[in-house]
Amino acid sequence: MKSARLERVVTRGSGCPRYGSFPDLGGYAGRIAIALGVLTAAIMVMSTIHPWGDLRAAAPSTVLLDGTAIPPNVRQVLEAKCADCHSENTHWPAYSRVAPASWLIERDVHDARSHLNLSQWQHYSAEDQATLLNRIAAEVRSGQMPVKRYLVLHPQARLSAGEQQLIYDWAKAERKQIRKQLAAQPATPATNGSTTP
Ligand code: HEC
Repeated sequence: MKSARLERVVTRGSGCPRYGSFPDLGGYAGRIAIALGVLTAAIMVMSTIHPWGDLRAAAPSTVLLDGTAIPPNVRQVLEAKCADCHSENTHWPAYSRVAPASWLIERDVHDARSHLNLSQWQHYSAEDQATLLNRIAAEVRSGQMPVKRYLVLHPQARLSAGEQQLIYDWAKAERKQIRKQLAAQPATPATNGSTTP
């Protein structure tokens, strides 16, 4: 008696024809599949939108700080730790192509380049170069750059105390050099477009 009742319960539970073969589960699975499909399609469409323009169109390998006598070790630090945002030599990881992450990253790169683009250094006026060198020194010394959110995914980009000092000293020396040149030729008007690119 006891075992017969148990058998009935087990049979019902595992898909007795009277109850159909789990129609609810099939519905959920189908709806989840549709939702995932819609989500994937939406992400694919969103990823084609670039609110800050096509930043990837820039030349993949530009010379940083063209026109300056920058020591190789300073160049190396700037290339490794600043160039992703402050130049046109940005490395775009796979996740940077998927919205909405792509928008956050592109906004950073757009902002960073509009403040300081090391690939366009030769196109800044001497005045602007001097100002930017001052800001580089200040940002590096105060530990503001590279920005924190970048360091979360690129911990190796953090500047060591030695590197901070290296960039600070170079920026100050380079600025002094430019100031000296400016003082030596006070009559030269800014003819080569003194606006920042
Ligand atoms: C994740 C991208 C990113 C990296 C990497 C990065 N920066 Fe920046 N940087 C920005 C953004 C965005 C701004 C503008 C907004 C702000 O100040 O936060 C900026 C602003 C600056 C400014 C200010 C320019 C001005 O006009 O005031 C300087 C100088 C600067 N960065 C230097 C550096 C240096 C030097 C490094 C490398 C050690 C570096 N940054 C690395 C994103 C970055």
